[in-house]
Amino acid sequence: PRNSERGADGVVRVAGLDVRELAEQYGTPLFVLDEDDFRSRCRDYAEAFGDPAAVHYASKAFLCTEVARWVAEEGLSLDVCSGGELSVALRAGFPAERITFHGNNKSVPELTAAVEAGVGSVVLDSFHEIARLDHIASQRGAKQRVLVRVTVGVEAHTHEFIATAHEDQKFGFSLASGQAAEAVARVLKADALELAGLHSHIGSQIFEVDGFELAAHRVVRLLADLREEHGTDALASADTVDLGGGLGIAYTPEDDPMPPAQLASRLFEIVGKEAENAGLPVPKIAVEPGRAIVGPSMMTVYEVGTIKDVALGADVERRYVSVDGGMSDNIRTSLYDAVYDSRLVSRSAEAEPVLSRIVGKHCESGDVVVRDCWLPSDIAPGDLLAVAATGAYCYVMASNYNRLPKPPVVAVRAGQARLLLRRETEDDLLRLEV
Ligand code: LLP
Repeated sequence: PRNSERGADGVVRVAGLDVRELAEQYGTPLFVLDEDDFRSRCRDYAEAFGDPAAVHYASKAFLCTEVARWVAEEGLSLDVCSGGELSVALRAGFPAERITFHGNNKSVPELTAAVEAGVGSVVLDSFHEIARLDHIASQRGAKQRVLVRVTVGVEAHTHEFIATAHEDQKFGFSLASGQAAEAVARVLKADALELAGLHSHIGSQIFEVDGFELAAHRVVRLLADLREEHGTDALASADTVDLGGGLGIAYTPEDDPMPPAQLASRLFEIVGKEAENAGLPVPKIAVEPGRAIVGPSMMTVYEVGTIKDVALGADVERRYVSVDGGMSDNIRTSLYDAVYDSRLVSRSAEAEPVLSRIVGKHCESGDVVVRDCWLPSDIAPGDLLAVAATGAYCYVMASNYNRLPKPPVVAVRAGQARLLLRRETEDDLLRLEV
């Protein structure tokens, strides 16, 4: 987190709070969320795109009611992709007109809840859904604003599980095959739907700007072609291109992510130029960052339990440092080969560094938290390790594998700690039993 620093005693403090005291009070594993850091990233995005409401925080990265309130206070919009996320947002009092509802298979109850809540827009992802939503909205006498999600055919340079704009995957309407144009034609015929624009999301944890540029170029081109085909009046309400999320973050000091301002200036330039060439009024740009806002603002604190040096051959050993969580609170290393960095945070590290592997306490060998990191050779049970940049897609993908309770999330700000989500208890683990 931006507001963390190591004191002269070697102990790390976040927002002025000693990690040892946080661990003492809330136990470990513990997610520590730096509120000012989170808010400052919201502001960086809002400033870069010139309008906070054009920035839709992707709540799938991390959501609880308090965080939804921060997002609302910062003036951002919110992207949700399930009835569950929608309900957390609404219970937090998030303004429905600033919510965008995503998903490739939203259920009838989910779509109904979205229409009844009055969400700002629904991102359409299939022909079935166009008919389904039109029916639901017309039954309620509503006119629902929608975006059509376009698969622009861009290969983003990222892990295949999180790339979403190449042709052979489940999201969106393909541009190349003409399905995107057909989807728009159907929306224009649907009485209860109003086309607000087009959407594209090319993937996640992306460091190069070229994929975003190509997507922007293609989406604006399509908008221009559609105006030509259906006329200016029919497309008058379609004034937005939503270019999704996906900006990469630094998980280790070697990563060099693009600041939102750089992405914004490239997108403004391309969208502006493309619109001008096509004689189109310049569309508004919306984006949906998740990871880039919450990722760096949170860290996980673990306590070391055991250390084992395993012989790999003559004079070669691997050090395994086991912590009290693992793949149940961070599945990303095992699922995506994600690379994390970790430091000893409870005391100074003077002993020489040893290449170590941080592993969890689950019953499988793939339960790795940090594949390779340098920890002091005198690492010992009771030491606290922090893994950086665990704000996105860790808590929300947490499980109760091996019946581990989910860790708490504590927000810190200006020397004050506030528990947002408490630790699960053994009773919680039994609460679904009938
Ligand atoms: N918009 C849409 C339509 C999305 O599908 C996503 C992410 C985002 C925005 C936010 O993307 P971000 O800015 O956070 O990259 N579980 C994976 C990431 C899956 C991303 C899914 N969609 C991971 O842990 O890396």
